[in-house]
Amino acid sequence: MSDSNQILPPSDFQILGASQTHPMLNQNQIIYKSEAMHQVMGMLDRVAPSKATVLILGESGTGKELLAHAIHQRGNRSHKPFVAINCGALRETLLESELFGHEKGAFTGAYSRKVGLAEVANGGTLFLDEIGEMSPGIQSKLLRFLQEGEIYRVGGKEPIKVDIRLVSATNKELDKEVIAGNFREDLFYRVNTIMLSAPPLRRRREDVPLLVQHFLNTGENVHLNRGRRIDDEALAALTKYDWPGNIRELQNVCERLQILADGETIAMSDLPQQIVEPDQKVILDDYDATMPLHEFEKRYILKALNYFDGNKTQAANALGITIKTLYNKLHEYGEFEKYAVHSRPKSS
Ligand SMILES: Nc1ncnc2c1ncn2[C@@H]1O[C@H](COP(=O)(O)OP(=O)(O)OP(=O)(O)O)[C@@H](O)[C@H]1O
Ligand SMILES: [Mg+2]
Repeated sequence: MSDSNQILPPSDFQILGASQTHPMLNQNQIIYKSEAMHQVMGMLDRVAPSKATVLILGESGTGKELLAHAIHQRGNRSHKPFVAINCGALRETLLESELFGHEKGAFTGAYSRKVGLAEVANGGTLFLDEIGEMSPGIQSKLLRFLQEGEIYRVGGKEPIKVDIRLVSATNKELDKEVIAGNFREDLFYRVNTIMLSAPPLRRRREDVPLLVQHFLNTGENVHLNRGRRIDDEALAALTKYDWPGNIRELQNVCERLQILADGETIAMSDLPQQIVEPDQKVILDDYDATMPLHEFEKRYILKALNYFDGNKTQAANALGITIKTLYNKLHEYGEFEKYAVHSRPKSS
């Protein structure tokens, strides 16, 4: 049995000490030249030395975590830990004990006392990623923590003083979540003294060539690229593309190019199909404005059944749904009887 005073470190988290660099960040370099990013970075530099809470908004892959880390590094807490936790990844009870810790015996399985991430971040920065996913219960505990500067471990009676600088991020429109009643208004104001918006890559296309050059010349597979350059046509295609997955998607494409491209320079023929032909017209041409989705689904499912001569197992496999779902759908369509028994499968 473990000693009752033993303090276990939190299990699922990321802590970066002063001298460490972010593992994903290639020396934490933020590459940009666009006016949009100049404004963001200007604001970031002004905010970093303060203790103001910062809320970073932006679509997925726009660099929110990178910005959060830069706030920490450029502030006066950089010699203390930067602790990141993803609020969307853990269910409520687990998030609470990760964040605030728990006492021994607080719940089944709490064999020893555990220090929460907020406590680990003491003196430094706590980064709450995907804060928009936080449940109402945790929202009120976080609010109390921000107001009082104290936490309670789960099952704990004693308040523990904790001094953190809070940075949060979300790809949701948090003000709309407030109106919809999903996010507490008082907490919204607390976490949002300063708001930074990470612009999507399609609104700062000037950054694409620099980022491409950066990603081709860094990372684990840099040796495979052998210092190759990308030709103008291919670079123009990358710049024109809309990047729904933003910088993360660009980074992935560059990694793929490092590994797969052959030839002396990287050319159009090396680029993934969706970038060479970002044409959505094929789908649009097929669109029938008179057909609601459920009708489309029904016809598609029945087509699959006919294709497989009524064999529901084969049809469900091909449709990527379970046989149970297929049965439910058929009941719903009133077609169950018709397909209850199937004729021989096509291929036997
Ligand atoms: N301006 C930039 N310069 C260099 N690398 C960048 C830049 N912006 C983002 N990146 C890199 O792109 C990747 C995605 O960034 P990050 O994880 O910070 O985005 P995010 O907004 O937190 O994404 P998600 O919403 O998916 O969590 C990271 O590897 C990051 O280092
Ligand atoms: Mg992130």
